[in-house]
Amino acid sequence: MKAWEVHPAGWTLVERDEPIPEPHEVLVQVKAASLNYRDLIIARQSRGPLPRAIIALSDSAGQVIATGHEVTRLKVGQRVAACFFAQHWLEGAAPTGPREALGGGNTDGVLAERIALHEDAFVTLPDDLAFEEASTLPCAGVTAWHAYYASGHLKPGDVALLQGTGGVSIFGLQFAKLAGARAILTSSSDVKLQRARQLGADDLVNYQVVPGWDERALALTGGAGVDAVLEVGGRDTLARSVRATRPGGFISLIGGLTGFDRDPGLREAALGKGVHMHDIYVGSRRDFEDMNRAIAFHHLHPVVDRVFSFAQAREALAYLESGLHFGKVVIRL
Ligand SMILES: NC(=O)c1ccc[n+]([C@@H]2O[C@H](COP(=O)([O-])OP(=O)(O)OC[C@H]3O[C@@H](n4cnc5c(N)ncnc54)[C@H](OP(=O)(O)O)[C@@H]3O)[C@@H](O)[C@H]2O)c1
Repeated sequence: MKAWEVHPAGWTLVERDEPIPEPHEVLVQVKAASLNYRDLIIARQSRGPLPRAIIALSDSAGQVIATGHEVTRLKVGQRVAACFFAQHWLEGAAPTGPREALGGGNTDGVLAERIALHEDAFVTLPDDLAFEEASTLPCAGVTAWHAYYASGHLKPGDVALLQGTGGVSIFGLQFAKLAGARAILTSSSDVKLQRARQLGADDLVNYQVVPGWDERALALTGGAGVDAVLEVGGRDTLARSVRATRPGGFISLIGGLTGFDRDPGLREAALGKGVHMHDIYVGSRRDFEDMNRAIAFHHLHPVVDRVFSFAQAREALAYLESGLHFGKVVIRL
């Protein structure tokens, strides 16, 4: 079968052996895969070389075409997606120890015609969603869901702050509106801000025109501060996020789009404020299932910006790198 592997020279289309499911494994025909910021870091090998050429990407959706003889959870024909952590985080707090996730380290990903994984790795898909839409759920969707509803506690009437218009933030916007919260969203682009308005964003701030978006968020909330932040920016945004948050509010530490070092102003910003900060690492299979139930009930559709063909995989990665996307970038197989 054909697969795209991560090589030092860039993603490379290769011929791989057909996966044969073990007794507890499920064989899936991959129909679509989506890209995350993490895939750029892995493709560049900027945090060190990979131990071997692995198959790219963590997120996909597809159809079960065969099952090992011990499989009981799934049947041929079902539409499924694999969790980001392949098999072992079913519910509760994140597991300690090795955190092997699809498409990173020594673990093959999903940008292949077929994948075989343990039956526990999969969730079934909401009926309403096309495979392209469903392929966006495992990382960006589950992360935003987990931040608000598993580790966090967003309520109707709360004010949520979203940074930028990438995958996690746009799911965050959709889930904030689902909760009946008010959403303040920042972006570097006025065009993207208008798209966010159509998705229900209540207050828009261009963070290039208004670098002091924390002050703006305070002003928009009458000086009180926001209740919840999905912190995807990291180094250059965290201290501002703390300043924008009300005492006792919560900040979900998710990303490092501007780097992961801590801003020296952070301690001063946080001192005496009682802001809760918690690290988020995607979410469990239970979080994924809970999210899918809500998506199905509310007929919510993930925001897919562009779909590329399997042959155009490198163009899809370059498009993600350009930062022109709004929501998710997808590859159809
Ligand atoms: N902890 C976890 O479990 C977890 C899970 C998923 C992702 N992440 C991390 O979360 C981050 C976002 O991931 P993603 O896949 O959603 O990324 P993405 O789709 O590539 O998002 C990129 C967008 O982020 C916005 N952005 C960049 N710098 C910004 C800044 N200084 N302030 C505000 N917005 C900024 C830009 O939006 P505009 O063009 O609108 O300005 C950009 O288009 C990454 O660091 C990723 O590694 C972590």
